[in-house]
Amino acid sequence: MPFPDCEFPDPMPDLAFPFALGLSSLATEGFEVRILDQRVLPHDVRMCVLRSLEDSALAIESMQVRGAPLIGVTAAYGVALALKKDASDQGLENALCRLGKTRPTAVNLHWALAQMAMRLEPLAPHARPHAAWQQAQALHRQEQGFAKAIGVHGLEWIKAQHNPNRPFQVLTHCNAGALATVGPGTALAPLYAAHRAGIDIHVWVSETRPRNQGWLTEWELRQAGVPCTLIADNAAAYLMTKGDVDWVIVGADRIARNGDTANKIGTALKAMAAHWHRIPFHVAAPSSTIDWACHQGEAIPIEARDPRELLNPPGTLMQVDIHLLSGRTLANPAFDVTPADLITGFITEQGICTPSSLQALQK
Ligand code: MRU
Repeated sequence: MPFPDCEFPDPMPDLAFPFALGLSSLATEGFEVRILDQRVLPHDVRMCVLRSLEDSALAIESMQVRGAPLIGVTAAYGVALALKKDASDQGLENALCRLGKTRPTAVNLHWALAQMAMRLEPLAPHARPHAAWQQAQALHRQEQGFAKAIGVHGLEWIKAQHNPNRPFQVLTHCNAGALATVGPGTALAPLYAAHRAGIDIHVWVSETRPRNQGWLTEWELRQAGVPCTLIADNAAAYLMTKGDVDWVIVGADRIARNGDTANKIGTALKAMAAHWHRIPFHVAAPSSTIDWACHQGEAIPIEARDPRELLNPPGTLMQVDIHLLSGRTLANPAFDVTPADLITGFITEQGICTPSSLQALQK
């Protein structure tokens, strides 16, 4: 294990790309789950160990772990950790219920809990702890495979689209990379693959206020040597107007069966701008992000986060005195829904499809 629990490494590494350090957003050792604490990135690198149900639930709630595929895998391990202490029917029920309430929008969380429930409920309590760990590891491996496959399919698209005489200019929003998943990412997986394949790409990374997940994307890409530029969220349409964006690719937190897609707040604005400029706009996500029971975007629950995030962006040293809040009204919706009409296509582990052919992916 590279670093002790929740302590700053000494000497502090040069904030190197997690993979280069042998770190990943989540790893297991024995019956322990180690995570990279994303609240302090990109300024600090800190590892934490999850040992219990409550550790896992708090890690998801506090956004030590974040990103739809990663919180799904964390929740699966959370169930396994809970059952080590109490594998009774009640213990299982409590774990599913506690983890299910941590965050509402990313369906991967609820999908992972449903998979765990399906596997564990029929078992006798004594058989559950071992089976739960195995099931969590299976989901973990599956999500790793999904991310890699998204990279392969996305690379094919980039190869077909890019002009070899100039850099391929990509715009992304939020963080849908290695930090948000247990593999190379969703939206970033094709970009890593293209860079490795020697394609000249450049990525515009929008900051993603208020939590600045774009800073994580810029950090990831820079550590991996992918040329990128951090921009304010509001700069995207300007760059499109200038002809400086060839492609927009984003991740997803929940995709309704008609293709309407919930992703980090600000995504829909980018889709609208891309549509107007006739720039292709793709959503990259594993099939665990598709909610077949949800018919359209209106039914997707949108997380309302603590409005204080607007004034105190996590990971920054900026602190606004709480007294400044008095008499103010703030709102912090964390996701928006991009209508399927604005989406050129979905890149999943199964390949690339249009919104109208999405339903063919249902097994
Ligand atoms: O609130 P977060 O940071 O957990 O947001 C989820 C996301 O990371 C994004 O919306 C992302 O684009 C999709 S998840 C790979």
